[in-house]
Amino acid sequence: MCGIIGYIGNKDAQSILIAGLKRLEYRGYDSSGIALILPDKKIIGIRKAPGKINILERLVKDKPLRGTAGIAHTRWATHGAPTQVNAHPHQDCRGRIAVVHNGIIENFETLKMQLIKEGHVFRSQTDTEVIVHLIEKFYKGVPLEAAVSAALKLLVGSFAIGVVSASEPDKLVGARLGSPLIIGVGEGENFLASDVPAVLGFTKEVVFLNENELAVLSKEKFRITTLGGKTVLRETTHINWDIDQAEKSGYEHFMLKEINEQPGILENLINSRIHTQSGQIFFREQNIPESKLQEIENIFIVACGTAYHAGMVAKYVLETLCQVSAQIDVSSEFRYRDLLIGPETLVVAISQSGETADTLAGVREAKRRGASVISICNVLGSTLTRESDGIIYIHAGPEIGVASTKAYTAQLTALYLFAFYLGQIRGVLSCAKVDKLLAELRKIPGYQSQILKQQNKIAALARKHSHLGSFLYLGRNLNYPSALEGALKLKEISYIPAEGYAAGEMKHGPIALIDEYRAVVCIAPASKVYDKMVSNIQEIRSRKGKIIAIATSGDKEIKELTREVIYVPKTEELFSPLLVVLPLQLMAYHIAVKRGCDVDQPRNLAKSVTVE
Ligand code: AGP
Repeated sequence: MCGIIGYIGNKDAQSILIAGLKRLEYRGYDSSGIALILPDKKIIGIRKAPGKINILERLVKDKPLRGTAGIAHTRWATHGAPTQVNAHPHQDCRGRIAVVHNGIIENFETLKMQLIKEGHVFRSQTDTEVIVHLIEKFYKGVPLEAAVSAALKLLVGSFAIGVVSASEPDKLVGARLGSPLIIGVGEGENFLASDVPAVLGFTKEVVFLNENELAVLSKEKFRITTLGGKTVLRETTHINWDIDQAEKSGYEHFMLKEINEQPGILENLINSRIHTQSGQIFFREQNIPESKLQEIENIFIVACGTAYHAGMVAKYVLETLCQVSAQIDVSSEFRYRDLLIGPETLVVAISQSGETADTLAGVREAKRRGASVISICNVLGSTLTRESDGIIYIHAGPEIGVASTKAYTAQLTALYLFAFYLGQIRGVLSCAKVDKLLAELRKIPGYQSQILKQQNKIAALARKHSHLGSFLYLGRNLNYPSALEGALKLKEISYIPAEGYAAGEMKHGPIALIDEYRAVVCIAPASKVYDKMVSNIQEIRSRKGKIIAIATSGDKEIKELTREVIYVPKTEELFSPLLVVLPLQLMAYHIAVKRGCDVDQPRNLAKSVTVE
């Protein structure tokens, strides 16, 4: 998964491209590079470096490139180690064309062998390099975009690309199939980018490319066609994120900023989904007819990682409130199953980025089988949203930290609201019940703010345990997913082995792990399974396990069992996952900081996994 940015205009392209790359670093950061058209010499200048973007920045400061059109790339390696030679951009044999690419070319070996036979000289181990040599092969007496289109037709896999040529210095070409690409529309300048934050510092007007579309940009205008050459007319979208939203706003890390944004985001999300006069819940982009939703016989939730945990909570909520059978599977399993789904099924796809390859593949398979698909997504115009029958945007703003936090609670909130809406239109949830639930849901942002006021206490508790070699997280019912999410947060940013488990499973194995060298985080808010959680805690205590409890304010009993308790305000049991996750996020964050980990860009991870 990588980041692409291109610029064509009247300004110094190098500084604009580097600035844009920095805002894409969360998409991948093991190497990066830049290519500028040098108009005076009619050649292409290239600078590439392994490692983070600041290394490239130092390189171009020492050896600057002067030009007003170019492309740049930050990489998350899929084929070929993160080395200078494998970094993008890649050039043709004569160094007059340069390409940057995000995605995977599945048939690149066959193409490479054929191109080598035809005399092309390859420099890297990447799949991407076949693209630039194919363009070179077709670039004879035709415009650049025609050569690009001919080349892309031979590719099997996924791509978003940017292309420049020294022979046509006033042109930038971009195209996409399976990986996101947008156009940033400026005054006398235009941009290509993988994602919105890269261009926000320069323009708020963007155009989203759809699958199989190609764009030709000059500094004055742009045009879009299908890869087959059919003209496409597309409106620009005004992005209401300002650049600060994509910056840290004074916090040490994006993750901490995003944890603290949660109350405001949920408040806005709830308010934006309820008609002020009627009090009715509505979803602007939800285009599945109510009549269709009333006929649905079962629901299948599909997602990955944190989004999957949100889906697990939703499974309980949908079954309880909508009295409809709900299944869930991780996308990478769902897409390969012999699914018993069809027109009677509603598939709920949850994805922060809307670009996760496995979730997209699962949705495409579900649609092929006739199911209706609704997506719960954070990114405006992302691929998932453009392939769903209905969309519920969570409007959490850009989530830059690789570890998902605000998107998780926003996904949960959107799923609660959807369950209320679905229960009502299916006639199994009374208006009075919905009003009561909404009234309590509206209090959640305030409850979250109360928890965030305990950050110093939670940080101290986290630091005290940051030396431990492993953690076990236990929860039941609605908070079994909370245990999984807490464990995922810790492991992905601190690299400490951490397992989430259904507490009732303790006796079936995990209890063998309990000793004084391990912390056990027990999620035990007031609930119908509270007494069962207390029994688990007693079992752990008798084996000298270090217990950290998440409990409901006022709970004195838990204090008898462990001194280490983080309290959350009392709320409807149904909503407890929205509260208990905040201490888990903060614990993971402060442990990772204490251990000197790269919290926003953990090793081996990328923000959105757009490859299988
Ligand atoms: C969560 O902290 C991870 N970054 C990861 O598990 C993530 O939730 C998963 O890759 C799904 O991403 P998506 O929501 O963009 O589809």
